[in-house]
Amino acid sequence: MNPTAQIIVLDAGGQYCHLIARKVRDLGVYAEVRPSETPAAELTGARGLVISGGPSSVYDPESPTVDPAIFASGQPVLGICYGQQLMAHLLGGEVRKGDKGEYGLATLDMHEAADPMFFGLAGPQQVWMSHRDVVGALPPGFSVTGHTDTCAVAAIAAPERKLYAVQFHLEVVHTTRGREYLSNFIYEVCGCVKDWDPRHRAPLLEQEIREAVGGRNVFFFVSGGVDSSVAFALCTRALGAERVRGVYVDTGLMREGETDSVSRLPGLSVEHAEAQFLGALAGVTDPERKRHIIGEEFVRVQERVIESRRLLDEQWILGQGTIYPDTIESGGTDKAALIKTHHNRVAGIQRLIEAGRIVEPLKSFYKDEVRQVGRELELPAELLDRHPFPGPGLAIRCLCSDVGEALTETADGILIPVHSVGVQGDSRTYAPVLAIDSMDHARATALINRLAGVNRVICDVESHIPLDQMEVFASSLTPERIARLRAADAIVRRLSHESGYDRRVWQFPVILIPLGADNMPDSVVLRPVDSVDGMTAQSVLMDLDLLEKICCEVLRVQGIAGVFYDLTHKPPGTIEWE
Ligand code: XMP
Repeated sequence: MNPTAQIIVLDAGGQYCHLIARKVRDLGVYAEVRPSETPAAELTGARGLVISGGPSSVYDPESPTVDPAIFASGQPVLGICYGQQLMAHLLGGEVRKGDKGEYGLATLDMHEAADPMFFGLAGPQQVWMSHRDVVGALPPGFSVTGHTDTCAVAAIAAPERKLYAVQFHLEVVHTTRGREYLSNFIYEVCGCVKDWDPRHRAPLLEQEIREAVGGRNVFFFVSGGVDSSVAFALCTRALGAERVRGVYVDTGLMREGETDSVSRLPGLSVEHAEAQFLGALAGVTDPERKRHIIGEEFVRVQERVIESRRLLDEQWILGQGTIYPDTIESGGTDKAALIKTHHNRVAGIQRLIEAGRIVEPLKSFYKDEVRQVGRELELPAELLDRHPFPGPGLAIRCLCSDVGEALTETADGILIPVHSVGVQGDSRTYAPVLAIDSMDHARATALINRLAGVNRVICDVESHIPLDQMEVFASSLTPERIARLRAADAIVRRLSHESGYDRRVWQFPVILIPLGADNMPDSVVLRPVDSVDGMTAQSVLMDLDLLEKICCEVLRVQGIAGVFYDLTHKPPGTIEWE
């Protein structure tokens, strides 16, 4: 099966912990994640250790720690973000609260061109920071190997003890040369050898499926998206078609044409549950309640389907296309702060997991890895290149409000009292949205950084009536509003496909917000983003031609007052609005 891990990533609770292990595997070295407190004696088989980032402060009594013996074992250790602070703290340095947080891009100046971590990397480098605490005083024997304008201790090392640490996140794509730092660590410092080929994962995954499933059969609920389709195909290859069944549930929250196209897939049947879902969601406005209800109804449908097809006996288990970000953003790893509850981790599904009646072959993968596995399985490109679509469907793209409220004009723009979710640092925020009148990302970012209590900035692109005459309406998830959103989404998808724009963005959510006037109570927000794995994302612009066409057609949809454009990157805003 999998080789012995040459690199072990110690999980200190960071959002990007598994991303580190995955990046190491991408470089051809098998890596695994273990809890940070794993005793040093259990880690001796690895050629190197990495301590991940995490949301805690080293001085919190409950904060994750590592066995200090790892620093004396002679094994190379790399600390990242919180990992740097923890290394400094445990080895006699000092960590203190920074004067202000540092979230986003920074330029790293390296001091030691000869440092093996920095081989081949001369000159200033773009890095990505997300921290508040800083290393104030170095532990004995360490020197500073890099700094940024705002962070005096951005990289430290004690090379003769093979101890290295960086304050920035070298595992995210925004640290442009991060892959090379990591490669230097695993090959130059740890002396790892290649033992992992990321292009040939299917046979290993199939073997894992056979082991997890044993003599039983697998029953799948396929959403029509990339993840569940790849997981379904993998199981079919691993077990044979006669041992795998697939059902697609029409929740009434799907995009236009989705049910028709999915029902044409071989081996799948459709379960119609539109009335059940929309009935349970009637009058509900709270985002987490919506997700929870959808999760519960989904489990109910599952139970009904399983019962009606006599699949309750021990012969059958549930297969799922859960991928890694679904788990981590639900607080599913040991320590990651809860960002959002995902529908396939609510109580009902949890009970099946606890009973061991579930197989999730893609649960440690990111989206781009899932596509790679799909290509290995020779699934059609049209299916694999689909944008991700969230399990709770249009429900979480249709914002609701308990009360009607007026907008507030401020010196910086117009404040819209709908609450969208965001992620700042390692935890989530709900905050109102600021509308400005220019498509200016730099201005949007500066405003969010300056204004406490705003995590999203949108541009007022085109509307039937001026924004200052609009208001927010009390609204919930009605069939009428969902149909309105579905119509707008279909227009945007058609036009962006015709122009080829859909291939240039990673995902393009269309959001309905209850903002408008009497006979047109809703507006649409366009949210095209670029991303690699959904964990971080950039808001991106589009040709004015396309934008004009979209506005023109969307504004013809009955009930839509205006079209807005989301200028917010992730962080601080999430990709979805709820
Ligand atoms: P956020 O909004 O957290 O989204 O930046 C990151 C990625 O996850 C998808 N997403 C979901 N997928 N159930 C899902 O299956 C959910 O509840 C959910 N929420 C967000 C989102 O579309 C994006 O690709």
